[in-house]
Amino acid sequence: ASGLGQLAAAQGRYFGTALANNHLGESAYATVADREFNSVTPENEMKWDATEPSRGSFNYTGGDAIVSHAQGHGQSVRGHTLVWHSQLPSWVSNGGFNAATLTSVMQNHISNVAGHYKGKLYAWDVVNEAFNDDGTRRQSVFQTTIGDSYIATAFQAARAADPTAKLYYNDYNIEGINAKSTAVYNMVKAFKQQGVPIDGVGLQTHLILGQVPSDLQANLQRFADLGVDVALTEVDVRMQTPADSSKLATQSANYAALTKACLNVARCVGITVWGVTDKYSWVPDVFPGYGAPLLFDDSYNAKPAYTGVSGAL
Ligand code: XIL
Repeated sequence: ASGLGQLAAAQGRYFGTALANNHLGESAYATVADREFNSVTPENEMKWDATEPSRGSFNYTGGDAIVSHAQGHGQSVRGHTLVWHSQLPSWVSNGGFNAATLTSVMQNHISNVAGHYKGKLYAWDVVNEAFNDDGTRRQSVFQTTIGDSYIATAFQAARAADPTAKLYYNDYNIEGINAKSTAVYNMVKAFKQQGVPIDGVGLQTHLILGQVPSDLQANLQRFADLGVDVALTEVDVRMQTPADSSKLATQSANYAALTKACLNVARCVGITVWGVTDKYSWVPDVFPGYGAPLLFDDSYNAKPAYTGVSGAL
C-alpha cells in the first residue's frame, strides 16, 4: 500500500474511495484508486436496482467485479447499501405490498445480497437515509408500509446473513449536532439497549465549501460513546465552479479539519471520499453550478485538498 491508505493504516484507520466499475478500464483512474486508497465502496453496484432488478432475480456482476478488484489490491470493501428509498426498483416502491409481504421482500433481499458477500465485506450500510432533516422518519415505502420497525428488522436480517460484517446506519446532514443527527443518536441508543445488532454509524459528509460543522468531532464522539464505530463514508466538499486558488485553499483546510476530527475520535475507523476524480463526481449532476469536490482534479492531479488530507494523517 502507499498513498493515503498507507498513511491512514499507520494510524489504525483506512482511507477509501467510492469505486465505479465502468471507470476501472481507464488506466489513470485505476492507477490512482489503487495507489491511494485501501478501502473501496461500490458507488452503485450493490444497490437494490443493480442487485435485484426484478423480484427474486439477483445480479452480482458489478458488485463481484468491485470485490475482486479490491481483493487484488489489498483494499477492504464497504457494502453499500441494502435498504434505501432511492435506486429502488419500482417493483418494490410501487409494488403495493402489505406490511408482511414487504417485510419478507426486504428480508429476502438482505439475506440473498448480504449472504452472497458473506465474509468478504468489512461493513454494510444496512439502511441508508431513513430520516428527514427535522428528525422525523422519511416517508419511504418501507416506513409507510412497515413502520418504524423496518430498520431493526433490516439489521437483524443483515446480521443473520453475514455475521462478520460491521453493520452501519448511514445518512447525510448528520455531521453536526442537529435534529437529524440527534434522531439517529436516539435510535442507535435504543438499538443498543434492545440488543438490535448495530455496529456503526456512517456520516456521509457531503459538505459545502467552508461548512465543516464545528461540532463534527463532538458529534462523532457522542456516537462512539454509545458503543458503536463511526466513519465518514461519502466525503466530498463541493464549491461553486469554476474553482480558483482561494477556494481550493479553503477546501484543503476543510479536508484537513474533517480528517483531524476523525483521527481525534478513537472509534472513527476511517474516511471514504465519494469518488477518485472530480471528472466523475456525482456533484455537478445533482447540485447544478457546483463541482470540484474531491482530492484529484479532472486530469488526476492531486489538488491542495490532497495535501490537506495527507498532512492531517
Ligand atoms: C450516488 C452516486 O454517486 C451516483 O453515481 C448515482 O447516480 C446516485 O447515487 N448518497 C448515497 C450514495 O448514499 O449512494 C449516492 O451515490 C450519493 C448520495
